[in-house]
Amino acid sequence: MKTNRVLNIAHRGASGYAPENTLAAFARAIAMNADYLELDVQLSRDGRLVVIHDQTVDRTSDGTGRVVDLTLEQLREVDAGSWFNKKFTGERIPTLAEVLHLSRGKAGLLIEIKWASMYPGIEHKLADELIAHGLDNPNASGIIIQSFDQESLKRFHAILPNVPIGVLVENQKDLVTNKLAELAAFADYINPYMGLATKEIVEDIHSQGMKVCLWTVRSPGAVKPLLELGVDGLISDYPDYIRG
Ligand code: G3P
Ligand code: CA
Repeated sequence: MKTNRVLNIAHRGASGYAPENTLAAFARAIAMNADYLELDVQLSRDGRLVVIHDQTVDRTSDGTGRVVDLTLEQLREVDAGSWFNKKFTGERIPTLAEVLHLSRGKAGLLIEIKWASMYPGIEHKLADELIAHGLDNPNASGIIIQSFDQESLKRFHAILPNVPIGVLVENQKDLVTNKLAELAAFADYINPYMGLATKEIVEDIHSQGMKVCLWTVRSPGAVKPLLELGVDGLISDYPDYIRG
């Protein structure tokens, strides 16, 4: 993995080119030399870690229903590719374990705990999965856990304190100096919506010992001004737009 330049992080995989959060999108991102794959995890009704963004399968599959109400077997029955393009027919909603296998030695993972309050115990399940794959120690680089839910991140940090944490930020109030100092107690990354970032904020985050990754780049013209802020990573649907 290349770490001496801005991290190229593929949002839900190379989701501009393949159906988001599928093995096809993750494989495409790896082929495009992404450093990290960003993905969203939730729990199936029977408590399995699955990779999908929305609370329902409706937008990104031919099925219907809430992830929390469907078993892994039911989630695996839906087609998660044809909504994007017929050529991806047959893509499935992956388990986290499948993405860990696919990416091992090829790209890091930026794993977002999605809708944490709907899934009590998801932090322990995630920690157990990382331990099972030997990814729970600081030398097993390439895993970052992020969430908008700061309480969930604190719970995860208490379980596996050596795994880096990223706080997703969509509100300016989380980027003031005092709040950043509070977040620095458990976070290694502050990952704001790109419209919130300024050079001063990036410098403040750096001065507090944390790194900055911005989301979500969807146009090539957005890249240069964001790089000029001095950020550490860019999260994009199009890994080919990011040149570190
Ligand atoms: O990684 C940043 C980004 O994924 C956060 O927003 O809605 O795409 O999960 P969302
Ligand atoms: Ca996400």
